[in-house]
Amino acid sequence: MAFADGADGVAAAFRALYGSRPDGVWAAPGRVNLIGEHTDYNDGFVMPLALPHTALAAVARRTDGLLRLHSADVPGGVVELRPEALEPGGTGGGAGGWAAYPAGVVRALLDAGHAVTGADVHIASTVPAGAGLSSSAALEIVTALACNDLFGLGVPRWQLARLGRRAENVYVGVPCGIMDQTASACCTEGHALHLDTRDLAQRQVPFDLAAEGLRLLVVDTRVQHELGEGAYARRRAACEEGARALGVPALRDITPEGLDEALAALGDPVVRRRVRHVVTENARVEQVLGLLDRGETPAIGPVLTAGHTSLRDDFEVSCAELDLVVASANASGALGARMTGGGFGGSAIVLVEEAAADAVARAVTDAFASAGHRAPRLFTAVPSAGARRLA
Ligand code: GLA
Repeated sequence: MAFADGADGVAAAFRALYGSRPDGVWAAPGRVNLIGEHTDYNDGFVMPLALPHTALAAVARRTDGLLRLHSADVPGGVVELRPEALEPGGTGGGAGGWAAYPAGVVRALLDAGHAVTGADVHIASTVPAGAGLSSSAALEIVTALACNDLFGLGVPRWQLARLGRRAENVYVGVPCGIMDQTASACCTEGHALHLDTRDLAQRQVPFDLAAEGLRLLVVDTRVQHELGEGAYARRRAACEEGARALGVPALRDITPEGLDEALAALGDPVVRRRVRHVVTENARVEQVLGLLDRGETPAIGPVLTAGHTSLRDDFEVSCAELDLVVASANASGALGARMTGGGFGGSAIVLVEEAAADAVARAVTDAFASAGHRAPRLFTAVPSAGARRLA
């Protein structure tokens, strides 16, 4: 019972730290995105799945407005703050670094009029940080769900995801979309989550690869290139510029049939490439959905690889290590592969037949060694449950 053990462990650590028992223990997972990258801030489609890796939080209510935060994963002791003192950008009120995520969530709940009167929190996470697997969203959602339960707020999960995004946008200062928080809050075991980021309509899509003799490998390149954050904001700005120039509310509104006409109307070649990625990527999500519905899972492989090519050449968010995962996996028998998440490092996913999985994993690892890169970390993505109370 890994989860029960994990819950016991964080509860015991909470007791050692704060000298009393927590009121409960919650878990929220990281994610990989199967397809639909850089579409979530364009009102488009995404299809993430939750990982078995989770952020666990042992939490107890307070009544004096104080928030005490501790992480087993980050040195530095307990962070004590008043969420109303937080300032945009995560610098104010004593919450720098990791603490800005849970503190930002409590502040976002307060901003939305919910009565959260303080808490003691101890967090321990198995979601690798900096690997593009949404360790931040896991922190946000575990905090949001714990507060929702402890203070009886009755906020639906999709709304907890929005509050998590607000925490990250405003109080951490990262202009992310809604995908990661929704994945952590709403995914279910054995499914990928098809999400329309315009109206937040969700569909749980059965995704039982093992039953089909397939595997989804995650390859954490263990690199995170510096230009990441500013580049994400610039991609977002280019997409907004494209939508403005085309006179549509968001790039979601450009259909594949209307793409040539839209591209011809755009003067800036960079904006043109960004637009082409978003429009074709939305179409790829719908294509993958159709293939999964028809039980043609192996056929999604080439669609994943086409998504990578588009992210590499049109959206320009890949890097040498991610490209090497895709090239070496495909050259050694994978069905398809792509970077997943924001890019500039982080992780890639590889769809492979069970029988070929070891050979493909070895080929990727060997390719990294030959190129002089740090050894990547590989694991199998098992579509897991979204956020939940454990104890
Ligand atoms: C990051 C962001 C998401 C999304 C992806 C790219 O993970 O947090 O909102 O934009 O990048 O698809």
